[in-house]
Amino acid sequence: MKLMEALKQRRAVREYLPDPVDPAVLAELVEAACLAPSHMNTQPWSFVVVSEPAAVARLGHSATEALRRSGHGAKWEHETTPDALGAEFNLFYRAPALVVVCATQTGGMAEMDCAMAAHSLMLAAENVGLGSCWVGSAQPWLASREGREALGLDADERPVAPIVIGAPAGEPLSPGRLKPQLRWIRR
Ligand SMILES: Cc1cc2nc3c(=O)[nH]c(=O)nc-3n(C[C@H](O)[C@H](O)[C@H](O)COP(=O)(O)O)c2cc1C
Repeated sequence: MKLMEALKQRRAVREYLPDPVDPAVLAELVEAACLAPSHMNTQPWSFVVVSEPAAVARLGHSATEALRRSGHGAKWEHETTPDALGAEFNLFYRAPALVVVCATQTGGMAEMDCAMAAHSLMLAAENVGLGSCWVGSAQPWLASREGREALGLDADERPVAPIVIGAPAGEPLSPGRLKPQLRWIRR
């Protein structure tokens, strides 16, 4: 797949087929993520790969419950689906796989680097016919003591980008893009 094609076709996928993703493919996606640029080439990232669909569902359930309890669900509703936080809702959309990109340094630069890596990972998924979605609303729970324990994180690891991955069930529509504010400086 050509790069522009992948950039245009990639969508936030919120409905998945249940089939597990081959761990070898997930390993390739992580490899692609590591090709991203980072400040001073520090590569301040680590990856937690969850390849067992039931484990992804369990994590999603805990993250959803935490979001319900927090009362901040409404803030994320525009990011999710109309039934967000309804009884059946799972923040990880019943995706069969999850990769959490974590920062291994403090500070905003490391988070930017992780976002670069996450985008590369999502484009690499698109390239092999897999869908993905960055589920930022799960980040607060993943960063909590309980979430960190569930991911087995070391003290220096901070979850930045939870990316669910799997074969898409259907073709999501593009929400479109705004016309960018754009200024040219020509001289
Ligand atoms: C930092 C970030 C956080 C996001 N959080 C969520 C989320 O919690 N739930 C969700 O369904 N989508 C989430 N998304 C996906 C966006 O809603 C989606 O990318 C956007 O609507 C544009 O759609 P597109 O990716 O299909 O072009 C997030 C995306 C980013 C970059």
